[in-house]
Amino acid sequence: MAGALIIDGKARAQALRAEVAAGVERLKAARGVTPGLAVVLVGEDPASQIYVRNKAAATRAAGMLSLEYKLSADAAETALLALIGELNRRGDVHGILVQLPLPAHIDARKVIEAVDPAKDADGFHPLNAGQLASGGRAVVPCTPAGCLILLKSVRADLAGARAVVLGRSNIVGKPMAQLLLNENCTVTIAHSRTRDLPGLAREADILVAATGRAQMVKGSWIKPGAIVVDVGIQRVAAGEGKTRLVGDVAFAQAVEVAGAITPVPGGVGPMTIACLLQNTLEAATAAAGGR
Ligand SMILES: NC(=O)c1ccc[n+]([C@@H]2O[C@H](COP(=O)([O-])OP(=O)(O)OC[C@H]3O[C@@H](n4cnc5c(N)ncnc54)[C@H](OP(=O)(O)O)[C@@H]3O)[C@@H](O)[C@H]2O)c1
Repeated sequence: MAGALIIDGKARAQALRAEVAAGVERLKAARGVTPGLAVVLVGEDPASQIYVRNKAAATRAAGMLSLEYKLSADAAETALLALIGELNRRGDVHGILVQLPLPAHIDARKVIEAVDPAKDADGFHPLNAGQLASGGRAVVPCTPAGCLILLKSVRADLAGARAVVLGRSNIVGKPMAQLLLNENCTVTIAHSRTRDLPGLAREADILVAATGRAQMVKGSWIKPGAIVVDVGIQRVAAGEGKTRLVGDVAFAQAVEVAGAITPVPGGVGPMTIACLLQNTLEAATAAAGGR
């Protein structure tokens, strides 16, 4: 195996969670405020149930108040909007997260827009997206925020780097590109209509893969020495009836070429929850009148 640095997202996330827990203690001591995160799940999607359970456990472990709301898969959109309105008004709730995806009969955009932007723990509200794009004070979406921390753990100054982001979703690709632009990278966003994806990817000093296409990015797509951040999580067959998690990057090939790379699992995934806790702490701190 060649010398690519394997970026340890688990260790970095543990460190961030410890920093957040210390911040929670400070806020409790100084202002008597316990940060509270409300997580809302609609329906019984198995992956979403696991995510919500993990988020609640991490919230409690950081010393915060965790509130969980479970609505049935056929819950009316109006019921969900009413719950969000109630959570917006509650003084002990500083962060609100509605687990996506939502059932098809619910308009996800309407739901995202109903969350008070100051309590938008996921950073998906258009006001926060606009703040991020225009250089204002934004709640940054957790996954790209975590990716940036991992990137900067390898290369503190990203200015001038050629960055390519594969994927243009509102929750990963676009905010990731914006964060990299804010770090003075020269950024290209690629998507399913992009021509010559391998050639474009090979230009990247920083390559972030967020397509959801298992192991699409081959070793030959990577510029030698590049930093590769793999956001994808897919479960694939591993023989004998077993499955395993893989990312968007063909890891065994990529590790031979890249300078540094995040593994799946143990890379971006753990950072997402840690950044969610950080967003909640920041929201509670702001609600309590700042630091
Ligand atoms: N680790 C974590 O915590 C975390 C968090 C969030 C998401 N994820 C994972 O990250 C991946 C992406 O998530 P997402 O929510 O951003 O997904 P998404 O909404 O499905 O977006 C995927 C993006 O990839 C692009 N794409 C799809 N196939 C492509 C191809 N063959 N070539 C080039 N671009 C292609 C799509 O292009 P078009 O726009 O043209 O369709 C789209 O912009 C998924 O595997 C998801 O599970 C992980």
